[in-house]
Amino acid sequence: MIRLNCKNVSSLVIGNEHGIELESMFLEYREQIKNIITELNQKKDKPGQWLRWMNLGYSEETVWYVKEFASMVEGRFDNILVLGIGGSALGGLAVTEALLKPYWNLLTKEQRNGYPRIFFLDNIDPDVMDGLLQVIDLKKTLVNVITKSGSTAETMSQYMIIKDLLEKELGDDYRKNVVVTTDQRVGVLRQLADQEGYKTFVIPDDVGGRYSVFSAVGLLPFALVGLDISMIINGIKDMDLALKNTDIFENIAAQGALIHYLMDTKKGKNIAVMMPYSSKLKYVSDWFAQLWAESLGKEFNRNGEKVNVGPTPVKALGATDQHSQIQLYNEGPNNKLITFIRVNEFEKTLEIPKIFEYTGIGYLGGKTINDLLNAEADSTRVALADYSRPTMTITLDKIDEYNIAQLLYMLEIQTAIAGELYNINAFDQPGVEQAKNYTYALMGRAGYEDSAENLKSKLSAV
Ligand code: PA5
Repeated sequence: MIRLNCKNVSSLVIGNEHGIELESMFLEYREQIKNIITELNQKKDKPGQWLRWMNLGYSEETVWYVKEFASMVEGRFDNILVLGIGGSALGGLAVTEALLKPYWNLLTKEQRNGYPRIFFLDNIDPDVMDGLLQVIDLKKTLVNVITKSGSTAETMSQYMIIKDLLEKELGDDYRKNVVVTTDQRVGVLRQLADQEGYKTFVIPDDVGGRYSVFSAVGLLPFALVGLDISMIINGIKDMDLALKNTDIFENIAAQGALIHYLMDTKKGKNIAVMMPYSSKLKYVSDWFAQLWAESLGKEFNRNGEKVNVGPTPVKALGATDQHSQIQLYNEGPNNKLITFIRVNEFEKTLEIPKIFEYTGIGYLGGKTINDLLNAEADSTRVALADYSRPTMTITLDKIDEYNIAQLLYMLEIQTAIAGELYNINAFDQPGVEQAKNYTYALMGRAGYEDSAENLKSKLSAV
C-alpha cells in the first residue's frame, strides 16, 4: 500500500509557529473525521450526492465491456486520439504518462507490443490540432470523444472537425473510428451518438468530470493501449477498503485532508504544492491541481455564507524544480504545504560510470541516477524543514497500475474529506459556468442573445 509520512508538518520538527501538534489535532478532530467518513460512505449510493465515483472500483460490468471492446479493436488502429478537456482528459493523461513506457508514441509498434500510440487533444490550439492531424493518419485512428455534459464547446468543436475529416476519408465507414464516452441520457453528444450509431460508453450519473478517471473515461483508453485495468481496479478496491477506516490515525486520506485544512486555516499555508520525484508522475500533479482547485475553491459554504475558500494548487517536479522553485519555497513567504511523491523502486537502474575520478564530479561515479534522485528528494525535504517549511511525503513502492490507482483514489477521498472540513460542496463548479456562458454568447449560441449584448458592452469597457 502507498504510505503517507507527515512528520515534517509537526511542530516538533518545524517549530510551533509553522507546525501543528499532530497527535493532539488528530485527537481533536477524531470524532468529526469519523462522522465525515461514515457519512461519505452512507451517501455514496444516494442520487444527487455526486459520490458515485466511490463505487467505480466495483463496477465489474464496465470493466467487462471495456475489455471486450478493447480486444475487439485490438490490432485495428495505429493511434488512439482522445478528445476531451478538464476531468475528461487529465486523469487519462496522468495515468498513461505514468504507466506507459516513456516516449510511447515514438516507439515502434513492436516496442509497443502492437498497441497503438495515444494522443490527448485537451486544448483547442488550432496550430497544435492541425499539427497533430499532419502526423497521424485518421483512417488508422480510433477517436474517443469524452464529455460528460456532451456539449463542451472545446471538445465538440474538435469532434466536429474530426468527424468531417473522417467522413471525407472513409465515407459511412467512418463510424467505426469513433467511440463516445458520455452521459447515458442527456447532452448533445448522446443524441448524436445514438443518431450516428457510434459505439458508446457511459459516464455514470453522479460522477463529476474530475472524479471520473476510473469510469470508462479512463478505463477505455487505458485498456486500448494495453494497461492492466484489473490491477487498476484491485488498487482502487484495496485503497477504498483501507480508507473506510474511520479512525484518522489509520486513514491516510483523512490525515492528508486535515493537515491541508489546518495548515491553510490556522497557519496561513494557502498554497498546496505537489512535487513528485518522478517525471512519469508529472501529470499526476496536473490532474490533482484540477481536482483540488475545482473541488475546494468555493465562494459559498454549505450554509450559504460567503467564504471564498480554497488552497491554491501548484505543480512542481523533482528534481527539475529544485533548480527553479525551491529557492522560493525555502526563503520566500512561508505560505505553502508541499506534498512530495517518492518512488522507492524505479523499473530501471542507471549506473553512473566511474569516470572523471579526479575531478569535482568524480564522487558521482559508481552511484546510480536512482540514488541521486532520491538523495535529492531527502535533501530537499530536510532543507525545507530547516527553514521551518511544512512538507508531507507520499511513498509508492513502484509505479504500476496497482499503486497509481491507489494514489489517485486516495487523493480523491482526501479532497472529498477536505471539502467537508471546509463545509463546502466539493462536487460542483459554479465558478466555471460564468465564463462558459459568456463563450456561448460570444459564439452565437441560441438562447444566449441577452448575455451576448451584455458581454459586448463589458468587453468594450475593459
Ligand atoms: O471536473 C469537471 O467537472 C470539469 O473539469 C469537466 O470535466 C470539464 O469541464 C469538461 O466537461 P465535460 O466532460 O462535460 O466535457
